[in-house]
Amino acid sequence: MKLKTAMTAAVLAVCSGAGHADDSAIVLGKSIYGSLCAVCHGPDAKGGGQVGELFEVKPPDLTTLAAQNDGQFPFSDAYEVVILGMEAPGHGSSEMPIWGDYFMADALTDRGVNKSDAMTIAAGRALSVVYYLESIQE
Ligand code: HEC
Repeated sequence: MKLKTAMTAAVLAVCSGAGHADDSAIVLGKSIYGSLCAVCHGPDAKGGGQVGELFEVKPPDLTTLAAQNDGQFPFSDAYEVVILGMEAPGHGSSEMPIWGDYFMADALTDRGVNKSDAMTIAAGRALSVVYYLESIQE
């Protein structure tokens, strides 16, 4: 199994069994959002980021994901986009970065952990940012 596929599968298994995020996950997610996502999606996640303004496909408002999905926050879809990027066959490449690779590389180099621990750290960071997004749905 490919690493990213394994990472997604492992975490989705955890998510589907889990209840709601505790506050500490949301606080961590909020700080990750502020340092990595706000430049494109805007500080309030409504899509007005400075860098995002330059793109042809504007980074979407992330506070209305639930509203666009019959009021249900699309947790696993959002998680997948964060880890794997957007898969948009026929639509050319997307400006949405692939954060799974970034979080992995960061854990491997910065913390000197082994691959399996790096995967857990990466998955946890992605998960917390998605919990944060879930917490700011309108
Ligand atoms: C370099 C700019 C950029 C950064 C930084 C960025 N994004 Fe995105 N993001 C985009 C763009 C552009 C899209 C729309 C892509 C498309 O439709 O092809 C997108 C789409 C998404 C979507 C899918 C929304 C939907 O309607 O399904 C999610 C979820 C998302 N981003 C979350 C994040 C998170 C969380 C971070 C930070 C970890 C982040 N993004 C950082 C540019 C960015």
